Amino acid sequence: MKKMSSKEIRKAWIEFYEKRGHVNIGTTSLIGDGATGVLFNVAGMQPLMPYLLGKEHPKGKRLCNIQGCIRTNDIESVGDSSHVTFFEMMGSWSLGDYFKEERTKWSYELLTEVFKLPKERLATTVFEGNESVPRDDETAILREKSGFLKENIYYLPKEDNWWELDRGPCGPDSEMFYITDKQPCSPNCNPSCDCGHFIEVGNDVFMQYERIADDKYIPLKNTNVDTGWGFERILAFLNTNGDVYLTDLFIGAIRILEEESGKKYNEAEAETYSMRVIADHIRTSVMLLGDEKHLIPSNVGDGYILRRLIRRAVRYAKKINISTDVFNKIALYYIDEVYGEFYKGLVDSKNFILTELKKEIDKFEKTLNAGMKEFDKLSRRLLDDNITIIEGKEAFRLYDTFGFPLELTEELASELGLLVDKEAFKEKFREHQEKSRASVGEFKGGLASHGEMETKYHTATHLLNAALKVVISKDVHQMGSNITPERLRFDFNCDHKLTVEEKKKVEDLVNQWIKEDLEVKKISMSKEDAIKSGAECMFIEKYPDIVSVYTIGEFSKELCGGPHVEHTGVLGKFVIKKEESSSSGIRRIKAILE
Ligand code: ALA
Repeated sequence: MKKMSSKEIRKAWIEFYEKRGHVNIGTTSLIGDGATGVLFNVAGMQPLMPYLLGKEHPKGKRLCNIQGCIRTNDIESVGDSSHVTFFEMMGSWSLGDYFKEERTKWSYELLTEVFKLPKERLATTVFEGNESVPRDDETAILREKSGFLKENIYYLPKEDNWWELDRGPCGPDSEMFYITDKQPCSPNCNPSCDCGHFIEVGNDVFMQYERIADDKYIPLKNTNVDTGWGFERILAFLNTNGDVYLTDLFIGAIRILEEESGKKYNEAEAETYSMRVIADHIRTSVMLLGDEKHLIPSNVGDGYILRRLIRRAVRYAKKINISTDVFNKIALYYIDEVYGEFYKGLVDSKNFILTELKKEIDKFEKTLNAGMKEFDKLSRRLLDDNITIIEGKEAFRLYDTFGFPLELTEELASELGLLVDKEAFKEKFREHQEKSRASVGEFKGGLASHGEMETKYHTATHLLNAALKVVISKDVHQMGSNITPERLRFDFNCDHKLTVEEKKKVEDLVNQWIKEDLEVKKISMSKEDAIKSGAECMFIEKYPDIVSVYTIGEFSKELCGGPHVEHTGVLGKFVIKKEESSSSGIRRIKAILE
């Protein structure tokens, strides 16, 4: 095992691959294309989807990078020594070039020659096979040939050894693990167990399929390799026995928090937890504000997640009795000392980041103090009366009047052993949304920030998606979308070029729906309800708990951040300008509204 700084690891990764013919493609925006329903990049491969599906990449067939990613689905787990919401994935790809042989050889070289891990400490998993895809014996043999001990090779089922997103390129994978000093939890302990005996280092995905519906896979044109290794993970176990907050990415922030609070990191559990939450959430907020797309806090979609991160950090600052003024210093540490060198946008937009951060903190602090008093009053009353449930209407009042997100009320409640009636809260929330949807003010707000034409094209996209399902097949799904004030672009899965007649039918159907001047209805509901109702969406796990579902007539129901027009009649005439191949099995339509 070799101690290496974060900068050394970055350098080593890129150099290793450049020596083997890969081109460093650099990092790209953390924020997904809103129109496709993807809020954030969750893996290094996400921006490469079109190329993994067969499109030619301008930089060639061997690529590598270190890509920033955001995963907030387990935001509540942040506070231990390893969970983070922003992380970097060290990636390398073969686009229809080398396959398992080179891949396994290089992974082993990285593990043992670059990171100097002893062979007895290495374990790996391979796909055990199922009715549709055979057991991956080839990879198991190659892993052994490269140097893994036979007894450290595990066959695991699809839930552990298959990599996929809701749609797109996927396939069996083979993960690599470091075996720690921690004793296995049982004789049956294997790498899928999270007791801490095995720590995942990286993942080699052998992409040979494309997922086009929940349970439908088609072969890919190329066989690709998608490799992703966890940067923070490796850094932490090489240097700090697994504690990511003690690595050189975070330590400056932790020191600032120690100084400010007068408490030592790792001394008392509660304080350590709070320091980690603040250090993580401010880091992720800085990365999102300073991203090339400059996310700002809001009440919907990705903006809501950013808002939640900042507000949670504020709350944890209160817990350890420090002023939020210190967030500025922490943000500067991340920008100037850790990330600015690799994420140039952070330096260029330093003022923007600090200003927006401060704005959101001030906004929340104003209401927080009043809200906390209100919460204290409420909880005292309940506890005195031996009541353990906070009613939905109380939770909603805290949300509506004091800006308390439901999660905050829940967190405060659970600290006192109280529960929140979530369903009743959501019911109240829905009623409220219905009311405000009717208010012109909100609607104008939506239009102002998105532009009138974009809003129209957004609704036209939903109509087109629905029309394709009628004319081509109900298995047609959105694979991508892009909207400008001049046109819409829509990618969808389809195995043939549309005929003149099909195109005409799609156009006619969309225009018929426009003529019918149908109402575009927006309903807020819980994510589970949205899925149950059959609403269409690309990456469901990336949405907050409460989502908006837009319906038009009986035929279109999509989970979406909006905004949309109120009635289809305002769209004008829909014309398909072009229909072409986007990549293997994916067609692309460009259309305008006249
Ligand atoms: N895309 C693969 C992962 O995220 C490498 O594990």
